[in-house]
Amino acid sequence: MVDWKELSELVKTRRSIRKFQDKPVPEDLLIKALELATWAPNSGNQQSWRFWIVTNKELIQKMGDAVKAKTELMASWPEAKQFGETVARWRKTSDFFRGAPACIVVLMGRYSSIADQILRARGETDPIAREIREYRQMGASCLQTVAAASAYICLFLHYFGLATTWMAGPLQAKKEIEELLKVPPEWDFVDVIPVGYPAETPELRPRKPVQEVIQFFR
Ligand SMILES: Cc1cc2nc3c(=O)[nH]c(=O)nc-3n(C[C@H](O)[C@H](O)[C@H](O)COP(=O)(O)O)c2cc1C
Repeated sequence: MVDWKELSELVKTRRSIRKFQDKPVPEDLLIKALELATWAPNSGNQQSWRFWIVTNKELIQKMGDAVKAKTELMASWPEAKQFGETVARWRKTSDFFRGAPACIVVLMGRYSSIADQILRARGETDPIAREIREYRQMGASCLQTVAAASAYICLFLHYFGLATTWMAGPLQAKKEIEELLKVPPEWDFVDVIPVGYPAETPELRPRKPVQEVIQFFR
């Protein structure tokens, strides 16, 4: 078994890194980390995920352009004014993944459990069925599945000394990114994980004491 201290060290030294060296990431390390990530828990063991590895610089720049364009659009809305400096910072950083030599684009499949199938067959008229459907949409199994894998990916790449940030922000350009990468309609782009050798060592972001976030019901 893995030594607890070593495991804790690995987990606690991972951090989101947003600046990367101009040095390619060995493909075998990406594949090793992704292979291990496919052992993440996932709904119904359907493994309804895809990990597309983009190292083509032009494609990464085009993805960055798409995200930036949406950021600029939203920042131009009068509703953005009230957020002042935060918006100014966001305008500078929303597309930082374009500085990474590799981006893992995480796609989510449309997993449908037996409960989902029963609910669909039941239709829209039953209020209890509608309520259950809402709960299931809120905590969608397919989203929880790709989230589990994304967490693993970041951790395993950190093991190899590689820097990552899990990014849901680029979802604002979902349509454009799916068009650029020709994502089939039955798949949804959900997050990007830029990967590279770190060019910064940001402060560790502290966590709340565990006692604050746990609750036993003995
Ligand atoms: C679901 C999710 C979405 C995230 N989206 C972004 C993002 O769009 N841009 C970004 O810079 N960081 C993003 N992050 C990274 C978080 O900001 C980061 O994990 C958090 O601040 C804790 O810092 P740490 O990862 O260094 O421990 C995201 C993290 C998660 C789990």
